[in-house]
Amino acid sequence: MIDILLVSANDACAKEIGAQLRNSGIAHTLHSEAGAAKTLARHAGSIKKADLLIIEDSHLAAADLAAIEEASAHAPHLACMLVTSALSTDMLMAAMRAGVRHVLSWPIDPTAFARELSHVASKKHAHTRRAGRVLSFVAGKGGCGTTLIATNVAYALAASRDKRVLFVDLNQQFADASLLLSDKAPAATLYDLGTQIDRLDAAFFEACVTRVHPNLDVLAGAGDPVKAGELRASHLQRVLTLVRDQYDIVLCDVGQSINPLSIHVLDQSDALGVVLAQSVPHLHATRRLIDLFGQLGYAPSKTRLIVNHYDKREQVGLEAIARTLGAKPVHVLPHDAKSARHAVNQGVPLYTVAKNGALTKSIDALATLLCPAETTQEKRIFPRFFAAKPGARQQLKPSH
Ligand SMILES: Nc1ncnc2c1ncn2[C@@H]1O[C@H](COP(=O)(O)OP(=O)(O)OP(=O)(O)O)[C@@H](O)[C@H]1O
Ligand SMILES: [Mg+2]
Repeated sequence: MIDILLVSANDACAKEIGAQLRNSGIAHTLHSEAGAAKTLARHAGSIKKADLLIIEDSHLAAADLAAIEEASAHAPHLACMLVTSALSTDMLMAAMRAGVRHVLSWPIDPTAFARELSHVASKKHAHTRRAGRVLSFVAGKGGCGTTLIATNVAYALAASRDKRVLFVDLNQQFADASLLLSDKAPAATLYDLGTQIDRLDAAFFEACVTRVHPNLDVLAGAGDPVKAGELRASHLQRVLTLVRDQYDIVLCDVGQSINPLSIHVLDQSDALGVVLAQSVPHLHATRRLIDLFGQLGYAPSKTRLIVNHYDKREQVGLEAIARTLGAKPVHVLPHDAKSARHAVNQGVPLYTVAKNGALTKSIDALATLLCPAETTQEKRIFPRFFAAKPGARQQLKPSH
């Protein structure tokens, strides 16, 4: 059951939304108030009680987003849906930053509307019985090793720590992560799952993943940017809701793909591994990424800076990185071209080709740092007692 607050200045539109809600088949309560995005502050009391806020506002202006941001900031578990005229890409991203996670335009497509509602319902359900920890790896700039690190951390957690791990490749360009773990062609991709989402159940999911280790399943990325662009956040949400109970860790390679789809995953991530190299362009891009995380409302303690190809002689040192990004890197990984090349070219984890190599050992240390052995156990038994204190940073000294 989801509790919905509808704020609309237009009676006819409010009635139409009410009718679509009744037809959606999603269990809900509806409370309606007259107003617009810019007057949301007047409804603060009702907003606090709602799971979903629907703002119907055909005359939305950029300046009105501040009121939405204010409302979301005071109700962290509130899902926010905007029904408005078609938005430009810039305005859509600005709305996402303000906390909007669902955008629909008139005339409302009943199927899309019902899908978004079921997404909110499943998220509420998932929130109450969350199990697996979600870790995402992300980068401001490409080519710095995000996929190599993400795949090998996944393998280290599965093979050496006996965690059940699902690796999800969310790269939007030409997703390649599965190639780093296996030479088998993926059984199916995230795109295939998205296009057959109505068939999704445990058996269908199992048929779509590639098992690269008894403890490690890989859900391959969409394969090309056009297909990746067709994936919907609600599809991904359904997948995560279905599988989260079955894995100790869901590890996502987001790469540089920051968009409404990946923002849903970043929102749900317990930790964000931000990978960078020691160069000024990487610093610039990472600074912008961290700023964006701030605008999305992420606590700084959720972010872990990871420096790859670390060389202490580089001009851009750890001090400069910490000064520019406002946090110390939690880990540095050495450059190890030979091991990386062997592993990548054979499509196997680093552990298989260079068990005692410097990079393999450093990846292993990173896996421990991101998922300390006791955390998962404690979290499952006493999630509330062991939750991180708000604002508490978990930054460690770089291991070099
Ligand atoms: N520490 C390292 N030492 C040596 N080579 C590395 C290291 N990390 C990554 N590489 C190599 O760098 C190349 C790029 O790595 P990778 O594909 O993981 O980067 P990425 O950030 O995911 O790139 P993209 O932006 O294309 O997604 C690969 O050939 C990989 O083997
Ligand atoms: Mg990559």
